[in-house]
Amino acid sequence: MHLKNAPLIPAHEADLASKWRNVVRRRSFLQGIGIAGAMLPGGKLLAEDNGRKLPKGDVAILRFLAAAELIESDFWQQYNELGGVNGGNPAYILALQNLDGDMPQYISDNTDDEMSHAAFLNAYLMSKGEQPVNLDAFRTLPSSQATGAKQIGRLTNLMKLNVDTSWYTRYRSTQNPDFGATFPQAVNIMNEPAIPVNDADTPPSQPQPVPPATSQQSRMQAIANTAGFHFATFDQAGSSLYTTLSLKVTDPEVLRIVVSILGVEVNHFAVWHDKAGNAVSQPLAGVNDPETGVTFPDLNAAPFGGEAFQTNLIFPEPCEFITPNLPACAVIRPSLKENAGAVATATAVAKSQLFLGQSQAFFDAVIGLAMEADAAQRKHGGEG
Ligand SMILES: [Fe+2]
Repeated sequence: MHLKNAPLIPAHEADLASKWRNVVRRRSFLQGIGIAGAMLPGGKLLAEDNGRKLPKGDVAILRFLAAAELIESDFWQQYNELGGVNGGNPAYILALQNLDGDMPQYISDNTDDEMSHAAFLNAYLMSKGEQPVNLDAFRTLPSSQATGAKQIGRLTNLMKLNVDTSWYTRYRSTQNPDFGATFPQAVNIMNEPAIPVNDADTPPSQPQPVPPATSQQSRMQAIANTAGFHFATFDQAGSSLYTTLSLKVTDPEVLRIVVSILGVEVNHFAVWHDKAGNAVSQPLAGVNDPETGVTFPDLNAAPFGGEAFQTNLIFPEPCEFITPNLPACAVIRPSLKENAGAVATATAVAKSQLFLGQSQAFFDAVIGLAMEADAAQRKHGGEG
């Protein structure tokens, strides 16, 4: 179709773009079915729900969240193998500790949390007679070749991440994306690994002084800094996703589950927000990856500085909420389906290249679950 442009697009990006186009086509097809389903007489849909232990929409929400947590667990395990408390790559650990001495502990604990979320959601679904989510067939992506990484198949790819850092400026702004506001990237992180790729690239026993002295030390520090931003990027997305989906839950127990996990995603986000700020403030600021050119500037200095970038403003700035006529409120944002629903979140994650190399079947499975979750509608008492 776009043969003329094809040689200009790196193979992996063209591949990802075409898979996502297929997904979007499939999405329109499935939406057609969804609309037909919604037009069935209400009584029939309700009868269907009454035969279940949980409302259909709640099951769809729990299943998408289980998939999201499995995906999250997969990449956290990769971080944990290399940079956690028992992590196997000493130079990566040192570079992470330049962001905060407690990074290995936080990485291990966050990994445990995500694994507990995935296991709990699937076990809860089964306890209600529903199908759990199993993505094992898609654990096909290669591991890092760096010292410390287990050689097993992965769901996710941390080797060429595009990390959307606009949450950093969004949470420092009084504007809200749910009213159409857009926000600049704080740091431009494109095609950057978040874990060491191999030992020739970043020797596992090298020191990691601040600032880095050699190009291999700079490379490793840029990789660790990317991890720091990726942690926050994913957890702020999770915070908005859980908030958005909670609004569609019917059953009080399912709502308790969704908002209780939500709180932990927000907790993670807040901590990672603080740590990411250390990559872009003194004394660490200024790291440049000699292989990709990705640079972590001092966001407290010109041309940045001011409230939109100041690194210690880690609590959400009050922003427009519900209607601009009401006073500004410090809240999670976005929380509208089009900006933070399951499909919007899955699309953002696909754009980050976290699924680089995954099969069409994987994208179809994820988007299928996402569309079902977004189609969930809260029912009023007694109906569900
Ligand atoms: Fe989680």
